Amino acid sequence: MSMDIFDQIFDNNKAWVKAQREKDPHFFQSLSEGQNPEILYIGCSDSRVTAEEMTGVLPGQMFVHRNVANLVPNNDNNSAAVIEYAIAHLKVKHVVVCGHYYCGGIKSAMQSMDLGILNPWLRNIRDVYRFHKTELNAIADEDNRYKRLVELNVKEQCINVIKMAVWQKHYLQTGFPKIHGLVFDVRSGELIDLHFDFQREALAIREIYDLGTQKKSRN
Ligand code: CO
Repeated sequence: MSMDIFDQIFDNNKAWVKAQREKDPHFFQSLSEGQNPEILYIGCSDSRVTAEEMTGVLPGQMFVHRNVANLVPNNDNNSAAVIEYAIAHLKVKHVVVCGHYYCGGIKSAMQSMDLGILNPWLRNIRDVYRFHKTELNAIADEDNRYKRLVELNVKEQCINVIKMAVWQKHYLQTGFPKIHGLVFDVRSGELIDLHFDFQREALAIREIYDLGTQKKSRN
């Protein structure tokens, strides 16, 4: 008789608690005293992309936000609140936007389908396609075109972080947090750094998106 996966999680949890306590008897006591994560991770909700496991971080080291296709849309209170809290209060040193190849959200966005409440969400990805239409349409192989869209979507979401006052203010004052665009390759398990040049991008779009936070902070 095979056990339901839901029932297994409690047994898994008990075993995990035991193992953590054996390694460090004060482990949970320390966690209860607060968190001091240096990384904010924004990734896809996809069950195959396990933020903490694939990066090897420990509890307390990474603040995590996940949604369909790792988006940072304008007017999305959820991701905005996470980013505000991570930068202004937790004072993270790094913001990571992590996409992944074979992303169902990216694939769905490129199909002619009415997906209800997902339409406005996935339209953010259609917008990314439109910005980069010339480059994407020139890629003949469909798989490679989707993969490139995954990468370009990560870059656009990194740029969306740059557009936020909380990032501009803290980066201009302290030089942190740095912004990183990553892609997880589900097929190989590898994490790829896209080497997103956030400083260059910030300068390039500054004339449009500068919110004057530096001036305000000097008052
Ligand atoms: Co995905």
